[in-house]
Amino acid sequence: MELGYYNGKFRDINENVIPIDERGHQFGDGVYEFIRVYDGKPFLLNQHLDRLERSAKALFIKLPITRTELETIIQEGIAKSELQEADIYLQVTRGIAPRNHLFPDTDAQLSLTIRNPRQIPEQAYEEGISTMLLEDERWANCYIKSLNLLPNILAKQAAAQKGCKEAILVKNGYITEGSSSNVFAVKNGTLYTTPATKHILCGITRTNVMSCAHDHDIPVREQHMTMAFLKEADEVFVTSTSIGILPVAKIDQAVLPLTRPITQRLSKAYKQLRNVQ
Ligand code: PDD
Repeated sequence: MELGYYNGKFRDINENVIPIDERGHQFGDGVYEFIRVYDGKPFLLNQHLDRLERSAKALFIKLPITRTELETIIQEGIAKSELQEADIYLQVTRGIAPRNHLFPDTDAQLSLTIRNPRQIPEQAYEEGISTMLLEDERWANCYIKSLNLLPNILAKQAAAQKGCKEAILVKNGYITEGSSSNVFAVKNGTLYTTPATKHILCGITRTNVMSCAHDHDIPVREQHMTMAFLKEADEVFVTSTSIGILPVAKIDQAVLPLTRPITQRLSKAYKQLRNVQ
C-alpha cells in the first residue's frame, strides 16, 4: 500500500495535508532525497541521509528530528506499506509560517511518500536511450539537493518533446550532468565523469559506480568533458537512484557504438551491491 507521512503521522497517500503557508509549497524552501527500496531494505540509506544532512546544513535548515528517529520512520514506513520494492521520496522544508522571505522562527517539516517504484522498460537497458544536449541554466549550488528543480524540469520536458529520455546539460562548453542523473563516458577502457564540484549533484549512484570501477580495476578519471568528447566516446551512460545505470545510445544526432562492455560489467557489479549492504 502506498503511504504518505506529514506532521508526525503516516497517512493515506491521497490525504490533503499541506498547509497553505508551508514554505516548501510557497518558496520551494527545502531539501529532498529519493531512496530506492529493494527487497524491503532502503538501498544505501546511510549515504542518502548523509547527503540530506549536508543539503540541509547548506541551506541553514535544522532537521526536525534526529538521524535515528528518521531511520526509524523510514523503516516503519516500509513495514507499514508492506512494499518490498518501493520509491521513497523524503523532503524537509523550512516549515510553516506566513509568507515572508526571511527565515521564520518555526521548526522544519518532514514529509515522505512510499510508493510502488517507477518502472523503466527493460528495452531501455538493452538498447540504450536517446538524449539531447541542452544549456545548463541552473544556479551555482547544484550540489545541494534542493526542492527548486525548475530548470531541470524544463530541460527534461524539452528533451521529451524531442523524443529523448534525458537532457544532458552543458555549462561553458562542458558537460555537467543530466537533468536528473549523472553522466559517465568510457574511452579506451577508462571511465570518465564530471568532477563533483558545486555545479553538479554528487549522486549516490555515481559514487558507488566509481567504487565498483575501482574494484574491477577500471581506471576512473573525474574530468570535465566537452560535447565532442561525449559524442565520440566508446560508451556513455547515465546514473541515478531510480534508473541505476542506463546506457545512452544517442546524443543529439550522434549514434554511439552498440557494444558496451564496461557499462555491462559495471551494471552487474552495481546490482550486486544490493546483496552486500
Ligand atoms: N535525482 N543529478 C541530478 C540533477 C539528480 O536529480 C539526480 C537524482 C542525480 C543522481 O543522484 P542519485 O544517484 O543520488 O540518485 C544527479 C533523483 C532520482 C530525483 O530527483 O528524483
